[in-house]
This record gives sequence, C-alpha cells and structure tokens, in this order.
Amino acid sequence: MSTLFALLFYFALLVFSLGLGYRIYDYANTPQPLKIPTTPAPITIGGVVLRMAREVFLFESLFKSNLWIWGLGAMFHFGLALVLLRHLRYFTEPVWSWIALLQPFGTYAAFPMMIGLAGLWARRFLVERIRYISTPSDHLMLALLIAIGLSGLSMKWIAHTDIISTKAFFLGLMRFDLQPLPNSGLLYIHLGLVATLMLIFPFSKLLHAPGVFFSPSRNQIDNPREARHIAPWAKKLESEN
Ligand code: HEM
Repeated sequence: MSTLFALLFYFALLVFSLGLGYRIYDYANTPQPLKIPTTPAPITIGGVVLRMAREVFLFESLFKSNLWIWGLGAMFHFGLALVLLRHLRYFTEPVWSWIALLQPFGTYAAFPMMIGLAGLWARRFLVERIRYISTPSDHLMLALLIAIGLSGLSMKWIAHTDIISTKAFFLGLMRFDLQPLPNSGLLYIHLGLVATLMLIFPFSKLLHAPGVFFSPSRNQIDNPREARHIAPWAKKLESEN
C-alpha cells in the first residue's frame, strides 16, 4: 500500500505541477486586444495591485453582487486556507513556529469550511436558476471537497490515525526515502481523494484560483487616453506598413 500511495502522489504532483504550469503559461500568453477594465477602475499600477488584493483576499466583486454567496464562499475559502496551513506540519521538520501557533485555528476552521461547502452545494439544488446551469463537474468538485473534509474530520474526531507515521511517510516522499504509511482506511480514503483532486485540478473549474490574476477586467489600468493599448500582433502589422 505504501508503494502504491508513493507512486500515486509522485504522479499526482507531476500532473498537478506540469498541468498548472502549462495553464498559467497559456493564460499569460492569451492576447488582450482591448482595454476592458470594469470601471470605476484604478488609474495606476499600485491601484491595480490593491484592487487585485481586495479581490483575492476579500472577494470584493462577489461581496458587491451577492452577499449570501459571498458569505458561504468566504467561510469555505478562509476555512480551507487555515486547514491547509495547519497541514504544513506534515511536511516540515521542525514545524515552523507560526504553523504551530496556527494549529487550534486550523482545527476548528474545518467546520466553517464544511458549512460553506454544504451551503454552496445546497444552492445548486435549491436555487432554480443555478440548478439549471449546474453541470456534473460543478457537483463533482463540491462532492470531492466535502468527502476530503469529512474523511479528515473523521480522523480528527472519530477514529484517530497515526499522524507521526503519516508525517514520516510524507517527509520520506520528499527525500525519496520510502517509509511505511499507517494502516488506516480513513487515511487511505483521505489521501486517495486528495490525489484525485491534484490530478483533476489543472483540468477543472478550480483553475479560477490562478485565473483571477489574469482577468483583464480586473488587472488592467484605466488609462486608455494616456497610453495607447495595442496588442503585440497589431503592433507588428503597423511596423510592416
Ligand atoms: C497530502 C496531503 C494531505 C495529508 C497528508 C493529509 C492528512 C491529514 C490527516 C492525518 C488528518 C487528521 C488530523 C488529526 O488527526 O489531527 C487530516 C485532517 C483533515 N484534512 Fe487532510 N491531508 C492532506 C490534504 C488535505 C487537503 C488538500 C484538504 C482539503 C481540501 C484536507 C482537509 C482536511 C480536513 C478538513 C481535516 C480535518 C481538520 C483537521 O484536523 O485539520 N486535507 N488530514
């Protein structure tokens, strides 16, 4: 089982990093032929950085458009961020002091994270307009995240797993020194689902995470009169004439 999971995680990490790297490369090279910032928009680079920071850390545009979804999204994403930071203890030795300090917050952040996910999933069934536009992949991603959370919570609160050996296994993977994974069904489920998430991430709607940084309506400066916006291919045509 340990060898199987080791191979699975190496493969998942390869697909995740190459896939995500390619997507980011592709986004960065997608032409932006027009100036289309959503106004009122910043007129300086500093302003754009601030706008993006508000979008990434506070979900500003969602806050302005739908407070309910914002609340559920915030519970899920902020909860997830703390849960993932708490997980860094499995990959660092010695554990960094600020990660140690975060542990209690990470433990309880799993609850708002799950409530947020449950609410976002319920919305896809209960709001008719959203039900109509929901695809199987929308449901699948939510189900996958909920299953990861439930298996993690079960290990934390119902049937403990040996986290020392789990950590030894992952530190071993990082040093190419295979260590045994504890014999725990819940851990196998948790890790199997996490590897699945890593494998489908580069092909899924979860790409909105890197994608938000490349959204022209948010990352452009509102200066069409001060600086002419011209796509590189159009510039090439001009110099040829
Ligand atoms: C290789 C990566 C991962 C490993 C090794 C891992 C391992 C674990 C372990 C051992 C626990 C039990 C903690 C305890 O008993 O104190 C746990 C809990 C949990 N995991 Fe993971 N996990 C991983 C990735 C993830 C991911 C990507 C998510 C979310 C998308 C996640 C969500 C959770 C949650 C919500 C809990 C319960 C709350 C907590 O104790 O932190 N895990 N995980």
